[in-house]
Amino acid sequence: MGSELIFRGQDEAQPISDTYSPKPHKPWSTVTRPIQYLLREQRLVFVLVGIAIATVIFTLMPSSRTSYTHNYEPIPVSYFNHESTQMQHRPIYERANAFRMVNSGGKIPLGIKRKGLRIVVTGGAGFVGSHLVDRLIARGDSVIVVDNFFTGRKENVMHHFGNPRFELIRHDVVEPLLLEVDQIYHLACPASPVHYKFNPVKTIKTNVVGTLNMLGLAKRVGARFLLTSTSEVYGDPLQHPQVETYWGNVNPIGVRSCYDEGKRTAETLTMDYHRGAGVEVRIARIFNTYGPRMCIDDGRVVSNFVAQALRKEPLTVYGDGKQTRSFQYVSDLVEGLMRLMEGEHVGPFNLGNPGEFTMLELAKVVQETIDPDAKIEYRANTEDDPHKRKPDITKAKDLLGWQPKVDLRKGLPLMVTDFRQRIFGDHKEGVTSSV
Ligand SMILES: NC(=O)c1ccc[n+]([C@@H]2O[C@H](COP(=O)([O-])OP(=O)(O)OC[C@H]3O[C@@H](n4cnc5c(N)ncnc54)[C@H](O)[C@@H]3O)[C@@H](O)[C@H]2O)c1
Repeated sequence: MGSELIFRGQDEAQPISDTYSPKPHKPWSTVTRPIQYLLREQRLVFVLVGIAIATVIFTLMPSSRTSYTHNYEPIPVSYFNHESTQMQHRPIYERANAFRMVNSGGKIPLGIKRKGLRIVVTGGAGFVGSHLVDRLIARGDSVIVVDNFFTGRKENVMHHFGNPRFELIRHDVVEPLLLEVDQIYHLACPASPVHYKFNPVKTIKTNVVGTLNMLGLAKRVGARFLLTSTSEVYGDPLQHPQVETYWGNVNPIGVRSCYDEGKRTAETLTMDYHRGAGVEVRIARIFNTYGPRMCIDDGRVVSNFVAQALRKEPLTVYGDGKQTRSFQYVSDLVEGLMRLMEGEHVGPFNLGNPGEFTMLELAKVVQETIDPDAKIEYRANTEDDPHKRKPDITKAKDLLGWQPKVDLRKGLPLMVTDFRQRIFGDHKEGVTSSV
C-alpha cells in the first residue's frame, strides 16, 4: 500500500520548468493600491460621510465617565464651589446624590434607568442595622442585609420583604462572601454584654475574621467600607470627655476584652487595609445608643430599665448608680453613619450624644416616662464596668456637620411605645425611628 502511494505521487508530479522567472517587485504598490481603490468610484466621499455621521451620534449621546456602580468616588471639592447656598446646607449624602445625578454613570444604553448604589449592611437585621437599612432604602439604594440572626430578627426588616431593592442573606461573616457592591456598612457583632459574653471566642472571631472577610470583599470589588467600632475602645477612660486621639485604658484579658479588644483589632485591620491596600475606609466609634427594636432583655441599661418599668419590676442599678453614660437616639446615629460614609474623612469619629446622665438620673427619666412608682434595686457592679463615658464630638461637628438632635426625654417615649407593643403582644412590627 505504501509503495503504491509513492508510485502514484511520482506519476502526478508537475514538470519543473527551467524557464520560470518571478514578476518584478514594485516597491510602492502597498501604498498606492489602497489609495487608488479609495479614489475609484467616489469611495472616499462615502468614507468621509460615515465619519461625519458617527461624530454627530457620539456628540449627541449623553456622555459621562465610568459607571459609579463599582467605582464610587468621593464628592470633589470643586463641585461644592459651584453649588447653591441651599445645597450647602443639605446633608453630605444628599449632595452626593445630587452630584451623582448631575455627573454620574457610564454610557448606559438608551432605555435603561440609572440605579442607586448597591450596599451591603452586615448585621442589618439588628437594632442599629435595621434602622440604617430603612434610611438607605428610602434614599433609593439597593440593600443586601447579611446576618446570622444571633441577636438580629427578621421582624426588624420584614417590612422590606417583596421590595426588589432589598435582599436578605443568612450568612455568618466569619465565612467569606463575594458580592458586587459599592459600599459595605460592617455592623455584624453582638453589641450587648449579655450577648458578647455568651460565647467570647465567637465574639472575637466575628470581630477579627469577620472584619477581615469584609475588608477582603471591599478590596476585591473596590467598595467603600465603614466599620462600626465602639466607645469601648477607650476602656475605663482616664480622659474625660473622650477625644478620638485618646488611646484608651483597656484591660486586654478581662471578661469584656473579647468585645473591646476585638473592636480595637478591627480598627487596626481597617487602617492597615486602607494604608496597605488602598481600600477606602471609614471608622465610627459609637457611644450608647437606644431606640425601638433594641433586644428587650439584652442587659443594656436603657432597655433593662424600660422593660422593668413596663413589667412593674424594680429598676436594677449596678454599683452606686453614679457611673455616667451618654445616650444617643438611633436616628441620630444613622444620620451620622451615613454622613461619615458619604464624606471624605476616614475617621475615627465619635458618634454619640454628649448629654451625660448618671444611672440614677436615667432611672428617674424612666420613672417620669413610664411609672413614677417604679422602685430602684441596687446590685453589685459588674467587672470592668467603665465609670464615665461621654463623647467629645467636636471632630464630627466640624468635619461631618453632624450633631445629635434628639434628647433623652424626646427619644425615650418612642422606645417605650415599641417595647410596650412587643412585651404585651400588642404586635405591630416595623416600628421606625422617626421623631
Ligand atoms: N447599640 C449601641 O449602643 C452600640 C454601641 C457601640 C457600638 N455598636 C456597634 O454597632 C453595631 C450594631 O449594634 P446593635 O446595637 O445594632 O447590635 P445588635 O446585636 O442589635 O446587632 C448586631 C447584628 O449583627 C448580627 N451578627 C452578629 N454576629 C454575626 C456574625 N458572625 N455574622 C453575621 N451577623 C452577625 C446579629 O444577628 C445582629 O443582627 C455593632 O457592631 C456594635 O458593636 C453599637
